[in-house]
Amino acid sequence: MAKQKAPLPVIRRRIGGVGLLRWAVRVASSIVLWTALLQLSTFFGLPLSPLRAARPSCIGNRNASATASAVTAVASDDVGDLAHPALPTRRSYKSNGYLLISCNGGLNQMRAAICDMVTVARYLNLTMVVPELDKQSFWADPSDFGDIFDVNHFIYSLRDEVKVIRELPQKFNGKVPLSMQPVSWSSEKYYLRQILPLVRKHKVIRFSRTDSRLANNGLPLRLQKLRCHVNYNALRFTPSIEALGNKMISSLRKTGSFVVLHLRYEMDMLAFSGCTHGCSGQETAELTRMRYAYPWWKEKEIDSEKKRLEGLCPLTPGETTLVLKALGFPRDTRIYIASGEIYGGEKRLAALKAEFPNIVSRS
Ligand SMILES: *[C@@H]1O[C@H](CO)[C@@H](O)[C@H](O)[C@H]1NC(C)=O
Ligand SMILES: *[C@@H]1O[C@H](CO)[C@@H](O)[C@H](O)[C@H]1NC(C)=O
Repeated sequence: MAKQKAPLPVIRRRIGGVGLLRWAVRVASSIVLWTALLQLSTFFGLPLSPLRAARPSCIGNRNASATASAVTAVASDDVGDLAHPALPTRRSYKSNGYLLISCNGGLNQMRAAICDMVTVARYLNLTMVVPELDKQSFWADPSDFGDIFDVNHFIYSLRDEVKVIRELPQKFNGKVPLSMQPVSWSSEKYYLRQILPLVRKHKVIRFSRTDSRLANNGLPLRLQKLRCHVNYNALRFTPSIEALGNKMISSLRKTGSFVVLHLRYEMDMLAFSGCTHGCSGQETAELTRMRYAYPWWKEKEIDSEKKRLEGLCPLTPGETTLVLKALGFPRDTRIYIASGEIYGGEKRLAALKAEFPNIVSRS
């Protein structure tokens, strides 16, 4: 996610003209807010009508609820299409090998990666094994895929695209698969030219990192649609998580409208990105230490101000406050902070709290 923070440069570059600035702030902040809303709706697995309407290709050709109920009816045993006509018809193809993935990062990052990797598996005609989730990330979440997502639904709702299995066939027991990290932001052609020959040769390949490995732009529409289909249809939270989410949303709605703000101004983000604008010398040192402590964060020497000018830093809570005010949110707006612990704690949130006293933390 870190690499996609695009809105800031717009603000910075146009800082000269007040009209343009206002425009830029609006664009930037609506991105911030939509991201926040999207995060919340994805987190709770809820439909978000305006967003859905804006992405007809993601949902246009399927009736998710019909698929879902059919999948639930199937439970754990596979059955013929005749018995459950709403199930997608299984796509038949000759598999070129098996794809294992060890996702890395937080839940949202892993979710995006699963969408990418299903797409890669489909494109290369691979058989995909149910993803493994990251247990060593900053969040140290011990959950497995099946603790968070409905595995049956994942497998069955994708059967017209790609074959997904729970584990590698026995014949591969004891063999160590080829493990590698695909090059970040690669196009589909990279997978076809570089990865497919490797899978054909080794039969089983494991991607040990999956974050941002597939380009966002320039992919064939067919593949983009599949990504959306995975995100909006195939990846569905377990019934208990959905029930809790629905309960929370309905209780939030009881007290009227609200804003959910994903500030992404957490320690790991600032350490990773090197964005220390407004931090004390001590804080900067602490963030730098953390950056050096994570060997897989490749960039170590970072010029914070330069990075900010390039638009690669999160807005500070103070800047976000300006954006919300510019958008005209009234002072009594209820604001839920959706992110983790804000770096610098209360001190950093002071400006936001002064302008919007009705701030509620996630806890
Ligand atoms: C989807 O399918 C369900 C169950 O068959 C049906 O009740 C619903 O009206 C359908 N929705 C659309 C948009 O077709
Ligand atoms: C995948 O399978 C389809 C259908 O069998 C075939 O047309 C296509 O060429 C295959 N692609 C690869 C990369 O194997």
